[in-house]
Amino acid sequence: LNLVIEEETRLNEVDMTLRRKPLLDRLAGKVGDRPAIWLMRQAGRYLPEYREIRSQTRSFLELCYTPDLATEVTLQPVRRFGMDGAILFSDILVVPDALGWPVRFVEGEGPRLERFSSQRDLSRLDATRLRGHLAPVYETVRRLEATLPGNVALIGFSGAPWTLAAYMVEGGGAREFHAARLLARQEPGLFADLIEQLTDAVVDHLAAQAEAGAEALQIFDSWAGVLPPQELKRWCLDPCSRIVARLKKLCPDVPVILFPRGAGASYVAYARESGASGLGLDTSVPMEWAASMVDRLGGLCLQGNLDPVALLGPPEAMLAEASAIVEAAARRPLIFNLGHGVLPQTSPEAVARLVSHLKSSRS
Ligand code: CP3
Repeated sequence: LNLVIEEETRLNEVDMTLRRKPLLDRLAGKVGDRPAIWLMRQAGRYLPEYREIRSQTRSFLELCYTPDLATEVTLQPVRRFGMDGAILFSDILVVPDALGWPVRFVEGEGPRLERFSSQRDLSRLDATRLRGHLAPVYETVRRLEATLPGNVALIGFSGAPWTLAAYMVEGGGAREFHAARLLARQEPGLFADLIEQLTDAVVDHLAAQAEAGAEALQIFDSWAGVLPPQELKRWCLDPCSRIVARLKKLCPDVPVILFPRGAGASYVAYARESGASGLGLDTSVPMEWAASMVDRLGGLCLQGNLDPVALLGPPEAMLAEASAIVEAAARRPLIFNLGHGVLPQTSPEAVARLVSHLKSSRS
């Protein structure tokens, strides 16, 4: 009997050190008995219930700026699949929109913005508009904070300065972002000023989400990978490290995940010097490599990195690939995710299979 009591006491002590939210535990460095899970773009067009809500609004941004609907759409995947994280439903491009650089989403084509190119353009950006313009987004965060189940962490997010600047300079999406890369080389002073203004805006936007109840923050640098290492350090890693340092002062209890997609060998520098609590891996980086790399650098929580296309293929192969990622990160804190967002043609059943498989896995 004594042994049983001792064992129960020990288990209780273990429980005491674990919070109720697996995702926040992993970001705090706790390994737990399975990876935490959420998926980038887990809300969206692959869900019929999303398409239903979306059809009620004229534009995509209207959905982002309507707290009732944005709250509902955030909750849909969590309700259906039981992820450990709910990511605020919004978009990275609300930041330029809020600074007075308007964004439109053209049906079937993606975002459209004016092309940013000059000092005059820079003077049009107005940081004082940001919190007012994005008040509906922070209202959504407050509502989510009040309604989410106790084991689900609320993730706020922003685009990174480089990725936002890249969309502003190109006037929308691009394959390789040549115009943005060229402006950074031809007018490094102007480009540095733009990055600095966006850095301030990103800090303000993320701090406002934390104040409203976001419990973790992810910074999407979706286009880090188009830059060579020196440029990547200057325009992606250094600004994001400054953002992390400033957020540590403003909201010290809210961990930050950086996702510099395509960073390649520069992931080492992110692990060493960014100060982030979590590092999001794209599909080009082997989890084994990332795990041994973070071991040498004192550890941080890894996130990733199943190929989104695996969810379109044979289920058994997809689950085996997911298990291999979990095994490669064994005995380290892991947030399971994709290497990029859920594709619109994904079947909800594939996501359901993946999440239930991971929830029964042990690392
Ligand atoms: O579920 C979630 O992840 C939360 C919501 C979210 C969206 N976009 C909704 C969205 C998040 C976190 C984003 C991030 C985002 N937006 C990124 C970074 C991640 C990445 O994919 O690299 C980027 C680059 C954007 C910019 C953006 N938004 C583009 C290029 C597009 C058009 C392409 C597309 O997928 O349609 C969007 C539109 C967008 N953002 C949609 C959704 C659900 C589709 C619009 C619609 O429903 O009509």
